[in-house]
Amino acid sequence: MEKIMILNGSPRAPRSNSKQYAALFEKYSRLPTETFSVTGPKAGEIGKKIQEFSHVLLVFPLYADGLPVPLLRFLKEWEQNGFPGKPTVSVLINCGFLEPEQNDVAIDMVKLFCRKNGLTFGSVLKIGSGEAILQTPFRWLVERKIRRLAANMEKGTWSVQRVTMPLTKNMFLKASTKYWESYGKKNGIPRDEMATMSIEKETNVR
Ligand SMILES: Cc1cc2nc3c(=O)[nH]c(=O)nc-3n(C[C@H](O)[C@H](O)[C@H](O)COP(=O)(O)O)c2cc1C
Repeated sequence: MEKIMILNGSPRAPRSNSKQYAALFEKYSRLPTETFSVTGPKAGEIGKKIQEFSHVLLVFPLYADGLPVPLLRFLKEWEQNGFPGKPTVSVLINCGFLEPEQNDVAIDMVKLFCRKNGLTFGSVLKIGSGEAILQTPFRWLVERKIRRLAANMEKGTWSVQRVTMPLTKNMFLKASTKYWESYGKKNGIPRDEMATMSIEKETNVR
């Protein structure tokens, strides 16, 4: 029987946008799904269970134009363990910038992984403005695409879809600057501090 393993590849999995995208996919998928996080408590089970699934849906954020490290690590381990089930691999990726095409290099990395390992690459949904869109009136645009992704995976019709907020770059920049400034203010971090690398030294998530 066909079923889908959803793998959340976000380093901040329990509080991630990817978690919300994965939950929407679960809501719309008519094929049975089970969700794991590559960093979560069930991560150790993934290797053993993955061969039970006909599809793997990688749900993850764009990090520095590529894949987040925990996901890279997972793919390496998966490669070492082999692919007895040969699942089809699909991608639901989101990035902070407005343009869904920012995600293309990361998608190519997953395609290359599949090609190298003889796995079928399935469908893609690339989301721009992924940090924000679910909290805006444009949420329905994403839900519609996720529903279509689920239907396509069920039918085995491979598709590439994109979605973002229908804003100009200028409007998006203004809105996102305002958002991050007020987020910083809430956490006692002024704009000039956010613009320096010292923000990276913060270890406490506030
Ligand atoms: C370390 C780091 C690197 C990021 N790099 C990019 C990037 O290169 N391009 C981009 O558009 N967004 C980038 N983002 C934004 C994330 O892709 C975006 O916030 C996403 O919604 C996070 O998803 P998550 O909550 O599932 O982890 C980055 C975020 C972080 C924390």
